[in-house]
Amino acid sequence: MNKLLTLQDIDLHNKKVFLRVDYNVVSNGKIIDEFRVRASLPTIKYLLEQNCSIILASHNGRPEGKVVESMSLRPVARLLPRLLNRDVAFFDDCVGEEVSQEAEYLRAGDIVLLENLRFHPGEEANDKTFATQLANLAEVYINDAFAAIHRAHASTVGVAKLLPHAAGKLVQKEYDTFEMLMHKPPRPYTAIIGGAKISDKIEVLDELLKHVDALLIGGAMANTFLAALGNTMQKSLVEKSNFVDALKIIKLAKTKKVKLVLPTDVIVAKKIDSKQRGRIVPIDQLEKDDIALDIGPDTMKAFDKTVAESNTVFWNGTLGMAELSAFAKASDNLAHTMISSDAQTIVGGGDTAAFVDTQDLAEHFSFVSTGGGASLELLAGKKLPGIEVLLKK
Ligand code: ADP
Ligand code: 3PG
Ligand code: MG
Repeated sequence: MNKLLTLQDIDLHNKKVFLRVDYNVVSNGKIIDEFRVRASLPTIKYLLEQNCSIILASHNGRPEGKVVESMSLRPVARLLPRLLNRDVAFFDDCVGEEVSQEAEYLRAGDIVLLENLRFHPGEEANDKTFATQLANLAEVYINDAFAAIHRAHASTVGVAKLLPHAAGKLVQKEYDTFEMLMHKPPRPYTAIIGGAKISDKIEVLDELLKHVDALLIGGAMANTFLAALGNTMQKSLVEKSNFVDALKIIKLAKTKKVKLVLPTDVIVAKKIDSKQRGRIVPIDQLEKDDIALDIGPDTMKAFDKTVAESNTVFWNGTLGMAELSAFAKASDNLAHTMISSDAQTIVGGGDTAAFVDTQDLAEHFSFVSTGGGASLELLAGKKLPGIEVLLKK
């Protein structure tokens, strides 16, 4: 097994540290869930013990290289002092003259949070000049942004190559858990995939089929599969460009004798808001303007049955639009079925982890990962760019 460089492998004493974290938790100016922020605290505390000054850097949302005020990280800068019990400064940008000058003056124990890295196109392009500007702010690079470790961006790869580097405590814990899961999962092993990042996640399902005994599909991901099979999904979220992939996965599951479970019924509404109650319909009976926003009770039963027969269960992606209670029933049901089973239960994802965390269920799972796409890619056996640069040579 490949080993990661850890905090013990580099000299951190009195250093200025660029700490990449994943604080992709702000939506419309509000923090959706503190889970990922709390998960970053052990590394921050360790660095403080080493007399470091800390420059926290993260992306939030997908602003596509432009400043989008509602995607600012400022709300996280207001939360951190409460969690850490000390001051945390906020810089309005992540690069530039002013940021460089202020970073110069950081002293042991100082903590600053930079503004959203993705406000600059250089971040996602892994631009060399942008990475150099970030690297020049600090002496050491630590990556604790597990949820973004599958991205080959300036702050996850570029900066690591320019500074002495290591994985933070969270990345290390996540990596160790998934390595264990990949190499010796107690069988039968079931993966449940839902959510809305369809094109990102569908790409690795064929690889995942090499590892699991059963694959259960929910969320908007399921809508895409159902539409690819010829069902009329009306106004539901569907990614047409992924129909070919979806059909390929259905075929591959048959060849590999992996049990594939798709919804037979869904909960629909004509509008998306908190007043909707939702109607249960079989998947071939959606009416005009219906939006499938959760999987239905028959499908839930089928999921429960497979989960009860499993010894390892991995879940990523909410089964419906769980932010609205009317469409959170299937996710809630699955969470309870998982925690009452004796299986190894692993949950991953920004929204999925947030969901179980806000229901106060997180501690009942074997492990709750902060990564969605990242954990899925690891489980599919892919090499992840942010991990590759942190491996011991
Ligand atoms: P994660 O963050 O856990 O990796 P995703 O970001 O892929 O998961 O998906 C979570 C999002 O998927 C949630 O915001 C949820 O509202 C959305 N979602 C789930 N099911 C549906 C659906 N049927 N239609 C629209 N959105 C959905
Ligand atoms: C996530 O929430 O899955 C991570 O922060 C990665 O975000 P991204 O899919 O926009 O790169
Ligand atoms: Mg998400």
